[in-house]
Parts: sequence; structure tokens; C-alpha cells
Amino acid sequence: MDLRHALRSTSAVRDFQPRPVEESAIRRVLDTARFAPSGGNRQGWRVIDVRDPERRRAIRDAYLDAWVEYLAHLRAGVTPFSPLLTSEERAAVVAHHAEARASIGPDDFPVRLDAVPALLVVCARLGSMAATDQDLDRYHFIGGASVYPFVWSILLAAREEGLAGVMTTVAVAREPALRAILHIPDGFAIAAVVALGHPQHELTRLRRREVDNFATRDSFDGPPLGP
Ligand SMILES: Cc1cc2nc3c(=O)[nH]c(=O)nc-3n(C[C@H](O)[C@H](O)[C@H](O)COP(=O)(O)O)c2cc1C
Repeated sequence: MDLRHALRSTSAVRDFQPRPVEESAIRRVLDTARFAPSGGNRQGWRVIDVRDPERRRAIRDAYLDAWVEYLAHLRAGVTPFSPLLTSEERAAVVAHHAEARASIGPDDFPVRLDAVPALLVVCARLGSMAATDQDLDRYHFIGGASVYPFVWSILLAAREEGLAGVMTTVAVAREPALRAILHIPDGFAIAAVVALGHPQHELTRLRRREVDNFATRDSFDGPPLGP
């Protein structure tokens, strides 16, 4: 597949054909995704291809529980899980929108998560993350940059197999509930839960901001880049 086309058309897919995804296909996807970059080339990722129905349901339940929080934030008009909200503010939003849980329908993606054709839990070895912002007096996010290119490469490599899917992070909010069931040792964190399958629909056209919305020359408030 042409690289430019893949980069411009790889959307988040949550509806899949009822075709299974063989473990051999997952192996091929990972065999390409493993060439992703990471800080110091430490490759601190681990992947669990979760097939066991009970474990899948536990992931689904963790996701659903945190999804209620996500929906409450949307209802309050704030970015879900924004690090700029305090935990008290987030708790207030959830308490104020307790009705969010009832709005989840039986066909919604979080409810169907346990039934997706392939469900990958991507873990990050914290000791391998180059967290260069850890001493800064603001929210720390650089560590994740050593694992998310790999997660994105999974989604891109999946397309060569005719597969598509979505990177999800909502269930990470309930990580403690998943550590024991997936035997994740100390020193590792869950970075993402990736759903994959044969897409139900053609990939849709992506809506993204134009370059002039986010790029400037020389300073944050500089002029737009030339044509
Ligand atoms: C870091 C990250 C976390 C995400 N977490 C979730 C998630 O928990 N659940 C979900 O359904 N989609 C999740 N997504 C998918 C985004 O919602 C999706 O990429 C975005 O809406 C753009 O969708 P599109 O590519 O189809 O236009 C996540 C994407 C990224 C990059």
C-alpha cells in the first residue's frame, strides 16, 4: 500500500466483519510494527493478544466503567480525562452526570469490545521509557512517546493484512483491575488496548485540521509556513 495513502486514510475503525483474525496475521502485523522508533531504541513494549473470553470481558468491563466517566466529561463540555482538570473537578463532573451510564446502548463499541476479532493489550516497560519531562512542573507525557509510535505502526501494518482497528486508552483508567487478570508485573503499565478486525465499511475520509491551523515559522505565534 502506498505510504502517503496509508497515512492519509488510516481511520479509527470500531465495526468489524464477523471474520476471525488468525494469530499468524497478528504475528505478521507485529513483525512489521516492531520497526517503530523508541527513545534510545529500547523497544520497551510488550503485547498480549487476548483470546480468552473471560479476560476479554474483564477488559470490556474496565473500559465500560471508565467510559461512563468519558461520557460524563463530554456532557459537561470538557475534554475527557484532561490533565488540566483536578481529580476533584473530574469527580464533580462524574457525579453531576451520573445519567451518562444509562445512555450506553447495547450496540455501542465499549459494550462489544470483548467480541472484536482481535484484542491486543500493549504494555510499556516503564524502565525503558525516556521520560525527559519528568522533572518539569507540568503534566508528564514524554514517556509515552517511546511506545505510541509502535501502537500506531500496528494500525498501519494491519492495513497490509486488510485489517483495521482502533487504539484505545479508556480502559487504562482502570489498569489496577486488569493487572492481575493479565499477569502484568510491576514495572509495566498498559499503554493501549487495540481492537483489530476486517472493517465492516470502507474507510472513511479523515477530517483533520489544515497545516495552517497548527504550524508556524520560528515561534509559536509566528507566520504560517509558505505554500
Ligand atoms: C492516544 C489515543 C487514544 C485513544 N483512545 C480511544 C479510546 O479509548 N476509545 C476509542 O474508541 N477511541 C480512542 N482513540 C481513537 C480516536 O478517538 C480516533 O483516533 C479519533 O477520533 C480520530 O478518528 P478517525 O481517525 O476515524 O477520524 C484514541 C486515539 C488515540 C491516538
